[in-house]
Amino acid sequence: MNLRFPEEIILLLYNEDRGDFTHSLAPHSLHTVLAGAVLMDLALENRIDTDPGHLILVDATPLADDLLDPTLADIAQDTGARDLGYWVAQTAKQGDEIRDKALARLVNRGILEAESEGIFSLSRLVSRSRRYPTIDGQRVEEVRLRIMRALFTDEIPDPRDIVIICLADASGVFKNILSQSELSEVQDRIELIDKMDLIGQSVIRAIREYEPPAPASAPRKEIPQAPGLPLIGNAIGMKRDLGSLLVKQYRNLGPIFRIKAFNRRFVVLVGAEANAFVKRGGKYLRTLETWIDYNKAGGVGRSIISMDGPDHIRLRKELTNMYTHHLIEGRVGDAVHVLQQDIAGWPQDKPLPGLYTWQRIVLDQIGVLALSMPVHDYLDDIMIYFQSKMKTYVMRQQPRLMLYRPHVRRAFKRMEELTQRILADHEPEKRRNKPPDAIDHLLELHRRDPQFLPETDLDMLGPLSAGLDTVANICAFMFYELLKRPDLREQVIAEADALFDQGMPTVSDLRKLDVIHRTAMEIIRLYPLAPVMSLRTVANSFEFEGYKVPAGETLLIGFTVPHRMPEYFPKPERFDIDRYTAERAEHRQHGVYVPFGLGAHRCPGNRLAEVLIVLNMATVLREAELVLHPPDCELKIKQSYALLPNYKFRLVRRHR
Ligand code: HEM
Repeated sequence: MNLRFPEEIILLLYNEDRGDFTHSLAPHSLHTVLAGAVLMDLALENRIDTDPGHLILVDATPLADDLLDPTLADIAQDTGARDLGYWVAQTAKQGDEIRDKALARLVNRGILEAESEGIFSLSRLVSRSRRYPTIDGQRVEEVRLRIMRALFTDEIPDPRDIVIICLADASGVFKNILSQSELSEVQDRIELIDKMDLIGQSVIRAIREYEPPAPASAPRKEIPQAPGLPLIGNAIGMKRDLGSLLVKQYRNLGPIFRIKAFNRRFVVLVGAEANAFVKRGGKYLRTLETWIDYNKAGGVGRSIISMDGPDHIRLRKELTNMYTHHLIEGRVGDAVHVLQQDIAGWPQDKPLPGLYTWQRIVLDQIGVLALSMPVHDYLDDIMIYFQSKMKTYVMRQQPRLMLYRPHVRRAFKRMEELTQRILADHEPEKRRNKPPDAIDHLLELHRRDPQFLPETDLDMLGPLSAGLDTVANICAFMFYELLKRPDLREQVIAEADALFDQGMPTVSDLRKLDVIHRTAMEIIRLYPLAPVMSLRTVANSFEFEGYKVPAGETLLIGFTVPHRMPEYFPKPERFDIDRYTAERAEHRQHGVYVPFGLGAHRCPGNRLAEVLIVLNMATVLREAELVLHPPDCELKIKQSYALLPNYKFRLVRRHR
């Protein structure tokens, strides 16, 4: 079977450099072209026909096709006499759904690969052969090549390509994929082709005549201001519990409001509505201003988190082997070994600090996987280094003067030393015949394209900074909850035993675990490491919920705030791993469970993190009998640059 028109339109719009397809096409244009595409498919399947004034249902039999059947069912159920324009408008309302289904199909067919939310790459097969695999084993030439040939040569296009050209022309798609001069060159040809298809002509007319509904109301004047104290504004509430403050103001003021802390002013976006906007709002937001000084202090020009736009998309794709689950693929045993070695050094019956223990283990795991070296000797300096930079340059919680304290200066020096060591250990001759690690991939990209990734941007410590304060903290929280709950612990141990009894698990074995996985999901919901994303600057002004947000504003996006809203997670303060069962699936509600962020900077390490967390809990509980110290100890949590759990535990006995 050929691709459906909506799929081909998506592929025609796909921009290989950026990895997305709606970069500059207005949402209503995308919706109308997809609506037209669905109606054209229904016409070619002899389900509908048109006469000058009407759309006529010919056959209501479903096609067993989730892209087309919903519109066919709507047409079949409708009793009025409607024209094509009406059905373009009705179907365009489902534009986002049609787009998502078409994208999911292209991924399932192995044409696109999902890199991260909203970012796709062409599969290797398509990018090399420029052909799409189809279900019947035929290969179809890539749509852009076909359409460009039809426009720029005198070849007579295939009837399907005529339809695609009609649809693309009517909805302004060519303005997005051709330059102005190219468009002038082929304008006459497009008009000629437009006339070749009769149904196409009526669809073009309907699309051209379609007026998107006007926004519900004109932008209101002022974004509401959250009440606060004179001079300091909301500084105290923000420092004490930013998440609670945001929930309260969301209830009072809605999903957008202004907040102030001393002389810093922010526009806050919060709630599921805000998350839905951020997911697709890449062109309005920029991270550069937040990270520029942090990078400079580490001797790095630009890094993945400080970039936006095409270069950022390219860097994310190029560094797949540095920041994603690829790091641990085939190397689960190495991560287990690090943990076993650490446990071997735990004294019996002496209290051990929960967080620090997990920091040491996770640091070494990431060190071994990404840099091919354990780095626990650097643990304290690594922590001081990253935390000082975060607090000074990103969160601006402390003055720069604090960086001149002797232990901080020492930490910076040791990081320079570690960077040099990593570089020396990764000289090509030393890495010969060794499987490439994250640093090898980074250096390979630098050698291949030194202008794109110059020496000044080689962020050797990136995996350590990204993984340490995240995976370690979640492991520490989860370990506490498991030690506190004997019933749950028993279930986890049973699952771990069944897993390891088959030998060393693979990444896909680990992803199939049920109870451990649901426990990890609940821990990440209950203890989101931060209530807000790193700050964004508004690069292009935009409208949100009727308010205009001007360029240049600083945005606080409370992305994990819905985690604690009872309308999405009933009794949100309660630990309950059954929220994630297929029946309840509370996390599946749109934009409410996003512990790994969303949009352009969504965490690429999410699967790596999940694998490490699940693996660590399964391993540690299998290896030893452990208890909290004292047994009834309550968890203390400090909100700093991240959520920091504080408790102790002790080893009762080893199991082997
Ligand atoms: C439980 C563990 C983790 C959590 C909760 C987490 C969460 C996040 C979040 C919320 C963001 C988005 C930040 C923003 O938009 O401002 C992010 C970005 C990022 N994370 Fe994670 N992360 C985790 C583990 C990891 C690991 C293990 C790695 C890799 C070693 C990693 C690598 C990254 C990178 C490179 C980015 C920046 C991506 C970009 O800017 O395009 N993360 N993470």
